[in-house]
Amino acid sequence: MTVLQTTTLRPLQIGPITIDTPLVLAPMAGVTSHAFRLLCKRHGVGLVVTELLSSHAIHYKNAKTFGMFDWTDAERPVSVQLFGGDPAMMAEAAQVVEAHGADIVDLNMGCWVPKVAKTGAGATLLKDVCHAEAVVRAMVDAVKVPVTVKIRSGWDPSRTTGIDFARRAQDAGAQAIAVHARYASQGFTGTADWSIIRRVKDVVTIPVIGNGDVETPEDAQRMMGETGCDAVMVGRAAMGNPWLFGDVRHFLETGEHRPAPTLDARIEAALFHLKTMAANPAVGEARAVKEMRGQITHYFKGFPGVSALRGQLVQANTIAEVEDLLAGARQRSEASE
Ligand SMILES: Cc1cc2nc3c(=O)[nH]c(=O)nc-3n(C[C@H](O)[C@H](O)[C@H](O)COP(=O)(O)O)c2cc1C
Repeated sequence: MTVLQTTTLRPLQIGPITIDTPLVLAPMAGVTSHAFRLLCKRHGVGLVVTELLSSHAIHYKNAKTFGMFDWTDAERPVSVQLFGGDPAMMAEAAQVVEAHGADIVDLNMGCWVPKVAKTGAGATLLKDVCHAEAVVRAMVDAVKVPVTVKIRSGWDPSRTTGIDFARRAQDAGAQAIAVHARYASQGFTGTADWSIIRRVKDVVTIPVIGNGDVETPEDAQRMMGETGCDAVMVGRAAMGNPWLFGDVRHFLETGEHRPAPTLDARIEAALFHLKTMAANPAVGEARAVKEMRGQITHYFKGFPGVSALRGQLVQANTIAEVEDLLAGARQRSEASE
């Protein structure tokens, strides 16, 4: 007799906010727009996080950055992620997004790309944990909503500063900490070392959100078991697969897998994503179709004819063209059944 292994899911508590499902959509620049966050919400994610927004751009009232203040009530609770290295500017940016309805403000300490890291922001803060603590404290003092932090293990393997910093972040008033268990110097290479999440969990009492390389319900279960983390954050594996959150929940609760989404469900989700994005006046149809080129094919991973469809979709310029291409794919799939 097979014994199914189940995991009891406890709500994630971030300050006064109770998140029933301890599953989090990772912030992803160019991916976690309002449309995608909403889609993940509909498919069972507990908490969504915006992509990183520049505190500098907010200070200078940059119109493009304000156009990214696209969250709505349907996504709540929503965490808005900020990056910057100047405590005063980060405090000001935190106040601005709080005034625009952010339920949680998150500090980005994971971005290693030179454009961000060279300005003393993102993962660079892991090189000077005293200064990073001052940034957290300034944000905490500036807003009423909970402040959280998303870190990496450290800048490079010679300095696992993430663990020391986690304690400092808690002392400074952070209400949760997400750990992408890679060093900044790794970018996305290698595999995430989840033992770092366990070590962070050992030194703080605030919730720890584990992140890095969770692709399947089994991975989520293993991460929870190995690290004791309070929630699991998923990034890349959710692209084109918002069902993953519901799949994880179902698997943890029952030990069983749900059937994979049908082609119709995938088409419906991809079009919802595209149309919701286009409906944002700051985006519009032409830009939405262009931005979706990199994302839409994720919905059809593994389906026969997907590479031909990918070639066609990247040339589409309007929603109607995308709809026609997807209708054609559906017909071909029916004919081949
Ligand atoms: C396209 C892309 C954009 C990202 N943008 C952000 C970001 O804006 N802020 C952030 O903290 N992390 C960002 N990340 C990192 C993810 O949040 C996450 O930590 C990383 O992808 C590891 O999780 P995963 O293995 O589940 O993808 C990004 C990752 C990707 C792939």
